[in-house]
Amino acid sequence: MNQEKVIVIDFGGQYNQLVARRVRECNVYCEIYSYKTDLAEIKAMNPKGIILTGGPDSCYVDGAATCSKELFELGVPVLGLCYGAQLMNFILGGVVEKAPVREYGKTKCITSGSSELFSEVSRNTTVWMSHFDYIKEAAPGFKVVAYTADCPVAACENKEKNLYAIQFHPEVLHTVEGKTILKNFVCDICGCSGTWKMDSFVEHTVEELREKIGDGKVLLALSGGVDSSVAAGLLSRAIGKQLTCVFVDHGLLRKDEGDQVESVFGEKGDFELNFIRVNAAERYYKKLAGVEEPERKRKIIGEEFIRVFEEEAKKIGAVDYLAQGTIYPDVVESGLGGESAVIKSHHNVGGLPDFVDFKEIVEPLRNLFKDEVREVGRQLGIPEDLVSRQPFPGPGLGIRIIGEVTAEKVKIVQDADAIYREEVDKAADLYEKTNGKKAPWKPDQYFAALTNMRSVGVMGDERTYDYAVALRAVKTVDFMTAEAAEIPFAVLQTVMSRIINEVRGVNRCMYDLTSKPPGTIEME
Ligand code: XMP
Repeated sequence: MNQEKVIVIDFGGQYNQLVARRVRECNVYCEIYSYKTDLAEIKAMNPKGIILTGGPDSCYVDGAATCSKELFELGVPVLGLCYGAQLMNFILGGVVEKAPVREYGKTKCITSGSSELFSEVSRNTTVWMSHFDYIKEAAPGFKVVAYTADCPVAACENKEKNLYAIQFHPEVLHTVEGKTILKNFVCDICGCSGTWKMDSFVEHTVEELREKIGDGKVLLALSGGVDSSVAAGLLSRAIGKQLTCVFVDHGLLRKDEGDQVESVFGEKGDFELNFIRVNAAERYYKKLAGVEEPERKRKIIGEEFIRVFEEEAKKIGAVDYLAQGTIYPDVVESGLGGESAVIKSHHNVGGLPDFVDFKEIVEPLRNLFKDEVREVGRQLGIPEDLVSRQPFPGPGLGIRIIGEVTAEKVKIVQDADAIYREEVDKAADLYEKTNGKKAPWKPDQYFAALTNMRSVGVMGDERTYDYAVALRAVKTVDFMTAEAAEIPFAVLQTVMSRIINEVRGVNRCMYDLTSKPPGTIEME
């Protein structure tokens, strides 16, 4: 593809995908390659710039991740970050050793106004440091252009040769002006014009998928969530009817969700593919009857999914590829991201590959962050309410109904949840229209759950003995920690009143104030 490209060379740091993301935010196409990639291959890609990432090694130790000296002689601008900065200086004759003081965290950094890297950046700025080793002496020909109290070479450059090295991490948001620094490199130093957009990603990926898959058959488990839906859209664009999507409706989806997925991807939708919807609700409810223990419920739902999918896969027969909607955070969590260390194993569609007869896995979204995936979805014409959907757990409403799951309880929680989401969205939209900014209380995830508690109430002149609905709403950045969102009381009152009036079997509404930890976001 004839477009400007920046290459990120991965030395195993935790933030490497963020580097690529920042480059893409400059509207420049970017790909990540292992440090083991052949120099000839890199050269053939004709990059406008090369960025060397951080990594866990010490560059002066035998066997450390390295690159060839010729990389710095290609005439292409190179920026080394953290380990990449140390390696560049080390290879070119500088001195790198264990630092007398380990720097970790936000640090004040003094920058030089003469460096293009720091154009439009404050002379005294805050950066994010994380290193044991340091550049004691920059390589010959390099000039120091930034320092901190403990780091004599926080950045250095050899302008003539277009080589730049930064000890801190401009890619993380704690480096307050990091985006500007990276933009200076990508746009001014490398001279990229910034014409790449998500539609180019779509075009590029569709081409790649066609090339890879040829006339092969592909199978995808479609959950109705954002990731698998966008993966389905992309694959459909690339290979049409060679793609079969199996959508297992386990009867634990949100209100009308199953029908909506079918209307988008089914026969009447806009996508060309083979769509198989399996209505397995009854089967699931039967398996779940009488089961109250949360882990047991999760297990049953997971296992049943595999059984249903297996049955469908058998009908289809052998396929060439199994597609998955894996996105970059899944890759990082399961430690599959190039050179970086394992953080925790990922539970997404675990076990599927064991029984489907296929040759290879395709994961067209594995380099994207969630918001980028949503943007791709929009480009493909997937409806906004599907694309901007909140996270929804695999076991679905099964873990939002405390205790035994029954068809009746599913209906109650679906109806209550639909009202709750509708009212919160309406109030948040109104706030945004009136104030010209996003409502500060707008939760990142919000849903209704059904408690297992029944209590006495009065409706009209009659005594009631019905269920209590719990309203959950959290503000969170990473879903690892969360706070209850401060939804305005008036909005909650409207929700309460509508739920109790419109949903049969509910006579009480509670708002869940628990943060995470100690609570979890879901109830079970
Ligand atoms: P918890 O309840 O662990 O939820 O605080 C954190 C985030 O993860 C989602 N979640 C799941 N997602 N399968 C999933 O795909 C699951 O089994 C699952 N359990 C929780 C939850 O919705 C929240 O966004």
